[in-house]
Amino acid sequence: MDRLVTKAKSLRGEITPPPDKSISHRAVIFASLAKGVSLIRNFLWAQDPMSTLKAMKSLGVEIEINEAKEIKVFGKGLYSLKEPVDVIDCGNSGTTIRLLSGILAGQTFLSILTGDESLRNRPMKRIIKPLSIMGAEILGRQENSLPPLVIKGGKLKGITYEIPIASAQVKSCLLLAGLYAEGKTIITEPHKSRDHTEKMLKSMGAKIEIKGNCVEISSLKNNLNSFEITVPADFSSAAFFIAGALLIEGSEILIKNVCLNETRTGFLDVIREMGAKVDVLDLRVQGGEPVGDLKVKSNKSLRGVNVRGSLVPRLIDEFPILCVVASQAEGETIISDAKDLRTKESDRIRAMATELKKMGVNIEEFEDGVCIKGPCKLRATEVYSYRDHRIAMALTIGGLLAEGETKILEAQCVDISFPEFYEILERLQI
Ligand code: S3P
Repeated sequence: MDRLVTKAKSLRGEITPPPDKSISHRAVIFASLAKGVSLIRNFLWAQDPMSTLKAMKSLGVEIEINEAKEIKVFGKGLYSLKEPVDVIDCGNSGTTIRLLSGILAGQTFLSILTGDESLRNRPMKRIIKPLSIMGAEILGRQENSLPPLVIKGGKLKGITYEIPIASAQVKSCLLLAGLYAEGKTIITEPHKSRDHTEKMLKSMGAKIEIKGNCVEISSLKNNLNSFEITVPADFSSAAFFIAGALLIEGSEILIKNVCLNETRTGFLDVIREMGAKVDVLDLRVQGGEPVGDLKVKSNKSLRGVNVRGSLVPRLIDEFPILCVVASQAEGETIISDAKDLRTKESDRIRAMATELKKMGVNIEEFEDGVCIKGPCKLRATEVYSYRDHRIAMALTIGGLLAEGETKILEAQCVDISFPEFYEILERLQI
């Protein structure tokens, strides 16, 4: 489905973004491995986490959903999963396929994981290589680099491994395999990626030690404890509204209940450096994560900045919307060290450079990032989402700034992480 977007007057009001996607995936997966009944409130009912939910059911986990859409997971312990009777479809979700691979590598049965066209083209060597060193047998297309993946797990041994590119999916995959492996599994990343897995597994009783960018997990003799969680709102979804309110004149919004885990909030640091004023109100702790409300006002006098190194994993999913913000800032914004963006749901560097150019942005593409020279007057035109939810939402915010009617082709993909995106956007416009 395509979407027409016209220039917005201003965004005003209060919103609660959808529940965090990363935490929703992990809550269902980890509860399935625990012994006891876990309760998940405020789960993200969007396509990606629903792929995870279905996958865990197909591995024999008993899951109940009540009228309030809360999820009860009847965990039977680390060794209770059953061989699936069919191929597991992970849809569009990299988190599902990579985290599950870590668990399935530790099972004695055979499983096959696949996904949609985008997922079937995402690199899997990064998990196949270390899992094979641990002792799993994994086959994939194109010389064991692409899904579908055929996993014959078994007895694993712990490894000491350096992940070449910071990635929470790879780190989490290996930590989960580490639960089943003999001895210790020690994982180091070049920069710290999101740490929800470490936090949640630790709170469930796993033996985890964190030293800087290095995480150590020991094989688990007992079972993980069940838990209750209320999933906070997703910062990555909030980012589209933060940007919208910042860039559209006369805007002021309050974004409620947002997870402010600092491995996720690099976008906030960057826009503050650009000159944005975002207030954090009522900072509190919910389910082991810092949570707060964000007050954002429009500000047209932003300046360009440099984004690289350890900041990149802290805003990895905010690259598309950051490009839109940079297009409105005075001077040059250079984003580098971000080559991995080429292997996300789409090639996000190519996608943003191509589509923003169509809208009149002075953007140059590099192998590992972009250079944007602003401020640019955005032109309404027809742009393509590449069936990538974050590209669709970023271009929509761009469309709100452009004079005239912007057409976002194949915008339905917002359902991957944020089914109510357009509804909320409409409600905020006055
Ligand atoms: C995620 C990790 C990141 C991120 C993705 C969600 C996670 O991927 O881009 O949207 O939940 O662990 P990488 O690990 O590939 O960087």
